Amino acid sequence: MVKKQKISSGDTSSGVDGNVSSHTSNPYLSHHASYSTGLGASYGANVTYDQHTETNPWSGEAFSGKYHDILKKRTKLPVYLFRDKLLKTVRENQIVVIEGETGSGKTTQIPQFLVEDGYPTLGSTCVACTQPRRVAATSIASRVADEMDVKLGAEVGYTIRFEDESSDRTVLKFMTDGMLLREAMSDPLLKRYKAICLDEAHERTLATDVLMGLLQEVIPKRPDLKLIVMSATLDAKKFQDYFKGAPLMKVPGRTHPVEIFYTAQPERNYVEAAIRTTLQIHQCESPGDILVFLTGEAEIEDCCRQLRDSAATFPSNVGELVVYPLYSSLPPAAQRKIFSQAPGPRVAGGVPGRKVVVSTNIAETSLTIDGIVYVVDPGFSKQKIFNPRARVESLLVSPISQASAKQRSGRAGRTQPGKCFRLYTELSFKNDLQQATYPEILRSKMSSVVLTLKKLGIDDLVHFDFLDPPAPETLMRALELLNYHGALDDEGDMTEVGYKMAEMPLDPQMAKLLLVSPDYSCSNEILSIVACLSVPAIFMRPKEQAKLADDAKAQFAVDDSDHCTLLNAYNEYLFNNKSRDYCWDNFLNERSLNQADNVRNQLVRIMQKLDLPLTSNDRKSSRYYTAVKQTLTGAMFMQVAYLQRSGVYMTIKDNQSVSLHPSTDVNGKPQWVVYEEFVLTSKNYIRTVTVTNADWLVASAPHYYDLTNFPECEAKGEIEQAYRRMAQRASK
Ligand code: CDP
Ligand code: MG
Repeated sequence: MVKKQKISSGDTSSGVDGNVSSHTSNPYLSHHASYSTGLGASYGANVTYDQHTETNPWSGEAFSGKYHDILKKRTKLPVYLFRDKLLKTVRENQIVVIEGETGSGKTTQIPQFLVEDGYPTLGSTCVACTQPRRVAATSIASRVADEMDVKLGAEVGYTIRFEDESSDRTVLKFMTDGMLLREAMSDPLLKRYKAICLDEAHERTLATDVLMGLLQEVIPKRPDLKLIVMSATLDAKKFQDYFKGAPLMKVPGRTHPVEIFYTAQPERNYVEAAIRTTLQIHQCESPGDILVFLTGEAEIEDCCRQLRDSAATFPSNVGELVVYPLYSSLPPAAQRKIFSQAPGPRVAGGVPGRKVVVSTNIAETSLTIDGIVYVVDPGFSKQKIFNPRARVESLLVSPISQASAKQRSGRAGRTQPGKCFRLYTELSFKNDLQQATYPEILRSKMSSVVLTLKKLGIDDLVHFDFLDPPAPETLMRALELLNYHGALDDEGDMTEVGYKMAEMPLDPQMAKLLLVSPDYSCSNEILSIVACLSVPAIFMRPKEQAKLADDAKAQFAVDDSDHCTLLNAYNEYLFNNKSRDYCWDNFLNERSLNQADNVRNQLVRIMQKLDLPLTSNDRKSSRYYTAVKQTLTGAMFMQVAYLQRSGVYMTIKDNQSVSLHPSTDVNGKPQWVVYEEFVLTSKNYIRTVTVTNADWLVASAPHYYDLTNFPECEAKGEIEQAYRRMAQRASK
């Protein structure tokens, strides 16, 4: 039980502003005075919390040993020096911008300071800290729960899409920026929060940018709300200018010099080069862990495997090498391993072992791994790009910016002087890398954001106070898409369909699938498909067992629909009682399916809330797949490709040449397909496709397949014929 404590006059006079009564259930509050005068002033030689309390104010029990261990490390973080000044500034200002070196303790400590200073009230309000990445939100929440010696999900929790590990008791919540934006739809003044830390603001993700614009409007209406914008040492001045009058505070950094090495020649294959460099460091350099930056799961797993294989052949006088991957779809237990200690020497007095973490951009600024002395930076990351003319949003492996390269190298100098090996030439760094990464808002399809803003009642998008306004063409494209889907009417006002779409935590097009599905009595089937598409891939295909994996997948394959293949696999998973062995034997990713199951349950609840019927066709009837394919056509009519006489597919209206992705189980080359995703690699692929036809297209989306403004293309003739057939049927 949490002991409720009365505030003495001494506490309130120490400068906490706001509503005193709202502080009564913050157990830290009775310590407030001693915190603010004692801790900051006596920081240094012998800081302990013990002078204040030995009991955990949340549980009323003595702090655990683990708490004290972590506390020792926490008090050494640069932000600790800063605690009192920061809290004072926050009390005196509604918005504060904080800039600090990565690893200085911003994310883990500052939200805790705010909790200690009495902003949240147990049982009603909390402090939020947003993160651009799911992994960061979950991993940091778990760390901070340990730091506060409480159970994750109780006083400290997290919320990410489809996963809520928080409760009524939560006073500190880590969440993705997208989730806070979503919460704003039902709580426009964000009343649940007393303080919001917009963390990693320098990343300039779409959701963080939109949140900043939104908070500009909310802040004057919520004088009791504090906003803390936290950023690595980039762009902080820009935030200060944007939030006029907000003080900018710099957390004094503590970094060691990092020596930078470039390659003499450009590297042909950066994965190979990264492996080679890592192995060289291991054999030749003094002790210290290695951080390698790669771009995605497959590449990272592959690299880890090769590193382990090579390390296994090293003679015993070379230290042990342990290798950990880090990417977003990694299970939490595996993610935690990156924080484990490097192995010691194999024999007493021998060479100590070394830890290698092979990571995506997550480790660039979001997560700090202690002990890193060497960074291997091939210079690439997966980045979202959007081409409004072709209406294509895609993830593409692209060169990083100079700012990113600097952040990456900084990771080597956290605890001692380090080295960074850039796998590109110095000339390339200077001439080829752009200075800073473009904000995501300039690289994204805006349909989902526009729908959110409309739902929030922001109609004038052109005058919305964006930090960097998106291109007008991109906004137009988004409005157009929402209009074609019936979410906005011709005046740009939200329709009933739009409201329902906005209720769903999904991309508008995906939400549309669920809305259309009852028309074909297959909402249960579509729910399963949407759930499978909302989680990491359910089919596993380890490189060395590719053939076996493909054979296993073939059992589920429907020869004209990858979506139905997903549906089959999910059905079989249920039919086999979600058995682990079944998943294992059939190369199904149990974790993903489990997540899909959970996502599906949540979507079912939303469907029920919206009064959308849950219906199925008989699995044995031919309607079963047909209805699904018609639904897909009814919702994805803007993502259609047509097979040209040349044998190449062309996307409808946008005229992009594309090929079916090699992972498809669709047989041959059907004339018309709807596709889920546009993948840009060495060539343009469409992934997860389902066969459709002109009759269905014109029947379900006549406003889009309108001949009066349909561009000349090979598909046009078929569309015309389909209309003729439709007219004939109608006249009969
Ligand atoms: O946000 P910022 O980059 O300023 O730093 P932080 O994420 O708050 O990290 C502060 C310290 O906590 C670092 O030394 C991390 O290594 C440590 N930390 C940890 O040991 N385990 C975690 N799961 C998260 C952070
Ligand atoms: Mg941070």
